[in-house]
Amino acid sequence: MDAAATTTTGFELSAALDARLLQTAEQMRGAASVVALTGAGLSVESGIPPFRGPGGLWTKYGEPPLDGYQRFLRDPVEAWRQRLHPTEGWAMGLQETLREAKPNDGHFALAALEASGCCDALITQNVDDLHRQAGQRALLEIHGNHFWLRCIECHRRFDPQHFEVDEARLPPHCPACGGIVKGDTVSFGEPIPPDVLRACYAAVARCDLMLVIGTSATVFPAADFPMEVLRKGGAVIEINPHESELSSVATSSLRGPAAAVLVRLLHHLRAHGQAGATA
Ligand code: OAD
Repeated sequence: MDAAATTTTGFELSAALDARLLQTAEQMRGAASVVALTGAGLSVESGIPPFRGPGGLWTKYGEPPLDGYQRFLRDPVEAWRQRLHPTEGWAMGLQETLREAKPNDGHFALAALEASGCCDALITQNVDDLHRQAGQRALLEIHGNHFWLRCIECHRRFDPQHFEVDEARLPPHCPACGGIVKGDTVSFGEPIPPDVLRACYAAVARCDLMLVIGTSATVFPAADFPMEVLRKGGAVIEINPHESELSSVATSSLRGPAAAVLVRLLHHLRAHGQAGATA
């Protein structure tokens, strides 16, 4: 292992893992369309807990009710009160954590891959906004964005900075169509907004190499995207320190924390003349 294989996050890559990263960089150079699919594991190094596994929110507090969307529809006023003044343990902690979190080296490495033409689209299950803050442009937030609002009828998104919510007149309504506005995060039991789902399917249809980063690959439809790439004969490269549902079928599994692995992958792509555009 050379000195450069000790990454900025302090994780020491083994020579074997480094060799596989070099190979992954070569595969990416030969691919027609690379798409990244990310999950909560990518933001662990930004201080945001994952959902499942050790330290996971659902592990600690139990899974929230699976009919969150139906509850919203039954009583949108109460759902809005919970959003504005959460009382459930996991929601209270998460709001604060999300407000304070900053993108980590993994988010920046992915934005750099995109900027230099090595990644066509990024589908994230994360609602934490960190990809956008890192400068990612072709971003598909399949589970929405914690900070944004969305009309449940016409799917327009609103930046809360420019959308006044009057606590005396809940729920807020869409200025364009009059539909009820809720948080953009997709609740349990809520259909994925069709615009973003269509864009995900279009990206997956073009993709012949998918990087699957920091996700347990258990929640559908996102969990089916790598399977679809495999069905078409494409490659799926998993980046995750632990085994996931995907590990047994993935083309390759790179075992390490996402930030360290992605920084080193970017290094290999740059060393061979690609991914040189931005830091
Ligand atoms: P999970 O919590 O299910 O999985 C997190 C994954 O990250 C696990 O496989 C961990 O091994 C891995 N991991 C942990 N630390 C890591 C690190 N430093 N680097 C890389 N990987 C690491 O999270 P998701 O798969 O994203 O849905 O969960 C999918 C959906 O389930 C979420 O979007 C959420 C939840 O219900 C909604 O909010 C709608």
